[in-house]
This record gives sequence, structure tokens and C-alpha cells, in this order.
Amino acid sequence: MKVAALTCHIGAEVQGVGLADAARDDALFGEVKAALLAHKVLFFRDQDITPADHAAFAERFAPLEGHPVVGSHPDHPGLIQIYKDENSPPDHFENAWHCDATWRDAPPMGAVLRCVACPDVGGDTMWANMAKAYADLPPHVKDTIAPLKARHSIEATFGARMPEDRRHALKAQFPDAEHPVVRTHPETGEKVLFVSGFATHFTNFHTSANVRYGQDYAPGGAQLLAYLIGRAAIPEYQVRWRWRPGDVAVWDNRCTQHYAVMDYPPTIRRMERASITGDRPY
Ligand code: SIN
Repeated sequence: MKVAALTCHIGAEVQGVGLADAARDDALFGEVKAALLAHKVLFFRDQDITPADHAAFAERFAPLEGHPVVGSHPDHPGLIQIYKDENSPPDHFENAWHCDATWRDAPPMGAVLRCVACPDVGGDTMWANMAKAYADLPPHVKDTIAPLKARHSIEATFGARMPEDRRHALKAQFPDAEHPVVRTHPETGEKVLFVSGFATHFTNFHTSANVRYGQDYAPGGAQLLAYLIGRAAIPEYQVRWRWRPGDVAVWDNRCTQHYAVMDYPPTIRRMERASITGDRPY
């Protein structure tokens, strides 16, 4: 197995590994997992594997979970089908910097995304290293956000374009989650900036240190949240992958965000994603 870093801070291409083999071989899977912890997102070309192999590899990390809005493979409910064509509505949700499913109390620990079909040009995906984003924050910002928590909402994102009754039903099924703004990675111990496109507001910003006048809270708290969410857009934290059919990306959802570049409609783009269950952030 050969691992070649793609940038200074995130991402590596892995050569000489078939993921169907890694699903069955403990030692090989261990090497892949170690590389993932080191590089945060791994890329594998030419993975001519079945949906069963795809799911079996991802399940080596932990059981898979479906998605309440995005459909799944008929035989593999853990494989979400992110399929786009000329009829897809323009208001997608993958073209925002986000960490997957933080509207869950325990968001996924990672994902395995396979390209089934893509345009010749366009439809790249980008990832950002949110541990580096945290490490680079000014000390006074780190002090301010250390105790803060934020609300994360499926209602305000996937639900926002639904009729009201469906939106309310979605929220009843998945009430907003609350997570620390800075989480600790359970395996590497790194501190991670953990707010992205699903975060709506801080839940405990209103202290005498932060709020002296009403405007310190609104828009002050919202301005701080927007500043933090905006850190993923800094190019030095990013890697960008240009897809070919059969490519696979594996990412650690606990310390990265990603953004699917939506420059290709109305071309067909078909991706299948295994979402791997995770722990409650602390
Ligand atoms: C996602 O946001 O998980 C999907 C990324 C992609 O389609 O490239």
C-alpha cells in the first residue's frame, strides 16, 4: 500500500489497495484506518467493487445508517444514493460546507463515497481540515468559544424547502441537536472546530462576558458563528478531488467538512455514500 499526501494539511491518495480486499483483511484494514487518522480523507482510484463490497468495507468501521430525506440503494439501506440529473432541483444541500448529519445527537464518524457516474469536467468535491482550522484561531477566539454549544438543525436545512406539515414531521422525528463548538477527536485527541452549515445558533452565548448590550447577542453571536463557519472556506485547509467513475473517497467526519461543487448541472452525476455511525461529540 502506497500513501501519497495531496496537500500539506489534508488528503492522501492510496495506491495498491482494493477496498473489497481491505474489507476482508484485518491487517490491511488496520493500515487504511491508520492512514485515515493521519490524513483525514483518503482517495482510491479504479475501485471496481459491488455495492455489497462498498457496504462491507464501510461496516468495518461501524454499522451504517440511512438518511431520512435522501434515498438508499434498494438492497443496501446503508448506501445513500446521491443521484443528480437534468431534473434535479437547483437547491441542493451538498454545495455548502458541512459535516455530515450533525443534526443527529451522534453524527456519523465517517463516510465512504463512491463515484458511479460523473461529468468529464465539473462536480469535484472539496474537504477541509477542521482541526487545523481550530489550531489557527486567535487565542481570544479560542477562549470565547471553549465553553460554547451550538444548535444543529435538519429542519432549517433539508426541511426548509418542504411543505410546513412535512417540515414539522421531520423536526418531530429529528429534534435539533446540541453540540460543543469545539469537539475533541475521540481517537487522535485533536481539538476540532465543529460548526458548519447545519448550525443555526449558539445556545449558551448569553453570559455577562459576551453580552453587555442586546446587539452583542444579536447580531453579535450570529456574527461570531458566521466567522467560525466561514473558516472551512480557507484554501490552505482544503483538498479538492476531481472524480472519475470508480473512485472512492473515505473521510473522517469528526474532523473535516466537505463541499460538493455544483458547477455541472444539467449533467448526470451519481454518487453512493455509506454513512458510518459515530459517537456523541464531547
Ligand atoms: C456529501 O455531501 O456527502 C456528498 C458529496 C458529493 O456528492 O460529492
